[in-house]
Amino acid sequence: MANIINGKEISAAIRAEIKEATERLVAESGVRPGLAVIIVGEDPASQVYVRNKKRACDEVGFYSESYELPESTTQDELNALVDRLNKDEKIHGILCQLPLPKHLDENEVIMRIDPRKDVDAFHPENVGKIMIGDYSFLPCTPAGVMALLERSGIDVCGKECVVVGRSNIVGKPQAMLLLHANGTVTICHSRTKNLAEVCRRADILVAAIGKADFFTGDMIKEGAVVIDVGMNRRADGKLTGDVDFESVAPKASYITPVPGGVGPMTITMLMQNTLTAAKNAIKC
Ligand code: GUN
Repeated sequence: MANIINGKEISAAIRAEIKEATERLVAESGVRPGLAVIIVGEDPASQVYVRNKKRACDEVGFYSESYELPESTTQDELNALVDRLNKDEKIHGILCQLPLPKHLDENEVIMRIDPRKDVDAFHPENVGKIMIGDYSFLPCTPAGVMALLERSGIDVCGKECVVVGRSNIVGKPQAMLLLHANGTVTICHSRTKNLAEVCRRADILVAAIGKADFFTGDMIKEGAVVIDVGMNRRADGKLTGDVDFESVAPKASYITPVPGGVGPMTITMLMQNTLTAAKNAIKC
């Protein structure tokens, strides 16, 4: 039976470190890291995320602002808010919760956020920096996965790493971070032939396709590390990952549960990026 990687525990340990570092930063420089979160419209899931982000800021001692804008918000109004936050010295990180309502252009907002305040690491400047391995910010979910591996004592160097999913938010940056850690990386996606066969080669499998319980025991190598990035709702309302925990856990050496694995790490990494942004602002 696999060791369960406890994302809640690891996340709490990192948040305690961020809190300490924040206290030091405030004492030494008078600067308190500040995060602004923007949400447009009434998507209930997004509202929960935004509330959790505010709570996390309070927990680590950050200043935070939340902007809950109506569905009718125009692109010009949203752009004006981003411009104002870009100039605001109290704010070191800006996060605009995605998805946006259909009449708004997500790309325009991503491009407009000052790359130095882009704590999602979605701006092409930050994406480019990740490619060349010279970065301040890491996208929160892949960074959370790397922190889970590191803090569980799992060495990526030389391992066969298979990332299933090629989104800009998870799959692509995840592959890059595993490559920087000297993994041998394969990216799979919906057109991959013989997916099960490729997955069975993985020493480290990262599942990020958004299909409930898709990865089953027969797709896993004995002793593999299995990281489940999925967050899916079952018909009965229960949260479940991309990995069929029951059949995979007996074969894996390590596995992340859903909930309680990668999920808690994402907001913690956002806190880490905001702290980094505040420190970088002092250096400027
Ligand atoms: N919506 C779901 N996840 C995220 C995220 O990591 N960042 C932003 N901005 N929106 C999201």
